[in-house]
Amino acid sequence: MEELVLSVQHVTSGYYSGGFLRRGTYQEVLHDVTFEVRHGEILGLVGESGTGKSTLAKTILGMVKPDKGQVIHYTKRPQMVFQDPYSSLNPAYTVGWILEEPLRIFGKYSAPERKRRVREMLDRVELPEECLSARPEELSGGQRQRVSIATALIQRPRFLIADEPVSALDVTIQAQILKLLKTLRNELDLSYLFISHDLNVVYQLCDRVLVMKSGRIVEQGPVEQIFDHPQAEYTRHLLAAAE
Ligand SMILES: Nc1ncnc2c1ncn2[C@@H]1O[C@H](COP(=O)(O)OP(=O)(O)O)[C@@H](O)[C@H]1O
Ligand SMILES: [Mg+2]
Repeated sequence: MEELVLSVQHVTSGYYSGGFLRRGTYQEVLHDVTFEVRHGEILGLVGESGTGKSTLAKTILGMVKPDKGQVIHYTKRPQMVFQDPYSSLNPAYTVGWILEEPLRIFGKYSAPERKRRVREMLDRVELPEECLSARPEELSGGQRQRVSIATALIQRPRFLIADEPVSALDVTIQAQILKLLKTLRNELDLSYLFISHDLNVVYQLCDRVLVMKSGRIVEQGPVEQIFDHPQAEYTRHLLAAAE
């Protein structure tokens, strides 16, 4: 059997709202979700806005507890890249400081070793050294997303969850970031769960794809199979809408 990085088995999860004295009402978002992420692959997760894609990411990361089923990690904790680097990068600090921070908190490295790792990662995401002294607001959207990716990778995870990482970017910049993600996957031997509402982006990047509708996986398979021979009515609908 192929090596797995993640197994999600019959997961049902959602949110409790309101209710301090009384028990809050429960909204179930994910219903009996089952899939695996295999070592080295880029697995896409597509579906319309509000379908539960980010809830699935949060459930994998343990920020939302499954009510049923289980999430099994075969690597150390995955790292996350978000859509909006404005909110995920602290505007008060320089890029050099932001990149070094996880190493200060979690690593047992000397200051020179931390600096060396920061420079190496900056180089991997193809940013010039001048960026180290810049603050996030001084960078372009594409550069900021490169910093987010570097921040996620600096602790050397084996598995990355990217939640709409290129959705806020122009198409040309999108293509550059997708190319970078592919290169990093190959060079650093990573696996990704790549979340997007954009089928064109998923087609460019992913090896396999999960199609989600209203919190359920309605179809999954290799990208060519899903795009060329969709089985589910909903997948056909999504493909037609993306034409
Ligand atoms: N923190 C939250 N509390 C309550 N409901 C939430 C919360 N986050 C998301 N939801 C609801 O869960 C559903 C799925 O949202 P989400 O996972 O963000 O979808 P997607 O990422 O596919 O757009 C939506 O109905 C949304 O309103
Ligand atoms: Mg989302």
